[in-house]
Amino acid sequence: MRIAIGSDHGGLPLKETALSTVRKLGHETLDLGTFTDESVDYPDFAEKVGQAIVEQRADRGIVICGSGVGACIAANKIKGIYAAICHDTYSARQGVEHDNMNVLCLGGRVIGTELASELIRAFLSASFLNTGNYLRRAEKVKSLENRF
Ligand code: RB5
Repeated sequence: MRIAIGSDHGGLPLKETALSTVRKLGHETLDLGTFTDESVDYPDFAEKVGQAIVEQRADRGIVICGSGVGACIAANKIKGIYAAICHDTYSARQGVEHDNMNVLCLGGRVIGTELASELIRAFLSASFLNTGNYLRRAEKVKSLENRF
């Protein structure tokens, strides 16, 4: 898969870990910044990652800010983006399998590099269980996008 990765200044150190982990797992990366520790705004990087997925330049994304919260809120404003902050591997895997999560949000000031790599591994090795209850629920989530 091709994975779009973006962060603000608060997530920049963990972005390097994310890039190398994704590459080690055999996926392509699309590094959408930020590239310096100058203060920037997390919605801009959530937008870049979300846009790459919507435009099919990437299959999934990883967005990192200080807590992971702001990036997650911003990413979920984009139609077709299903983002979640996951700091445990169960959620990182099940979020994809059950909920069709396509963007993993991480808190660069919250978790360390080893946990981040485990979370990314869980996220990327999972596939959506595209059937039955899971599909029906995902379709209901999608329908919310058009109703509000
Ligand atoms: C930036 O200082 C910080 O507010 C941001 O990275 C993030 O934690 C927001 O959720």
